[in-house]
Amino acid sequence: MLSVEDLYVNYGTLRIIQGVSMKIEDGEMISLVGSNGAGKTTLLKTISGLKKPESGKILLDGEDISALSPDRIVARGLVQIPEGRKLFPQMTVQENLELGSYLKEAKKKRKETLAYVYEMLPDLKKKAAMPAGSLSGGQQQMVAIGRGLMACPKILIFDEPSIGLSPLLTDIMFEIIRKIKDSGTTVMLVEQNVQNALKMADRGYVLEQGRIAMEGRAADLLENEELKKSYLGI
Ligand SMILES: Nc1ncnc2c1ncn2[C@@H]1O[C@H](COP(=O)(O)OP(=O)(O)OP(=O)(O)O)[C@@H](O)[C@H]1O
Ligand SMILES: [Mg+2]
Repeated sequence: MLSVEDLYVNYGTLRIIQGVSMKIEDGEMISLVGSNGAGKTTLLKTISGLKKPESGKILLDGEDISALSPDRIVARGLVQIPEGRKLFPQMTVQENLELGSYLKEAKKKRKETLAYVYEMLPDLKKKAAMPAGSLSGGQQQMVAIGRGLMACPKILIFDEPSIGLSPLLTDIMFEIIRKIKDSGTTVMLVEQNVQNALKMADRGYVLEQGRIAMEGRAADLLENEELKKSYLGI
């Protein structure tokens, strides 16, 4: 479904992403893990069209999307839930959700998608009329996920959804992501929480200083001695 081929991305003269290749099959869940500053968000911004690559290809269903604008990429079904949620705090929960379906095709299905989102995230229904900014961090993360679902994604990409959440809320968050996957959406999960992210995934990639340092079946990566030493403190 999504394939990244030999991608290079710079900030000015700084080389951030240096020859990354990866792919995600239809219905698969992959986790991309890596420490602070490895280039995860930069890679996601580039996939979403917010940042242009120096070279390389990004193929969605076989078509190169690397020159398309972010909204055209969303319209093709690739949707990102950004790091730090990026909600409109004064607007209500429901208004924030509806913003996720501003494009034509998603707008047509707005009512039924909203029902699906409230079914998936029942806590949000009770808070529908409240300003998003008045919710707890965990609930705001749910709103961000709901807004992403409102765009009717074929592939949903999460940028560190567990950041700032308690261990309990992190578990709940990962459970929701699993439900979204089980409903048939392809998922790419980006995390510093290496163990949890790999436990849930079919396959994993480890990004180090802008390069893929390891990749493979998630279960194998969790058993990898090098990965255990560097990321799991074992
Ligand atoms: N707008 C920018 N201008 C210049 N350099 C940037 C910019 N954004 C990120 N960088 C640099 O690019 C590198 C990768 O940053 P990026 O945010 O992609 O990492 P990350 O893996 O998402 O980290 P984190 O886990 O902390 O979110 C870092 O060295 C960072 O300082
Ligand atoms: Mg980041």
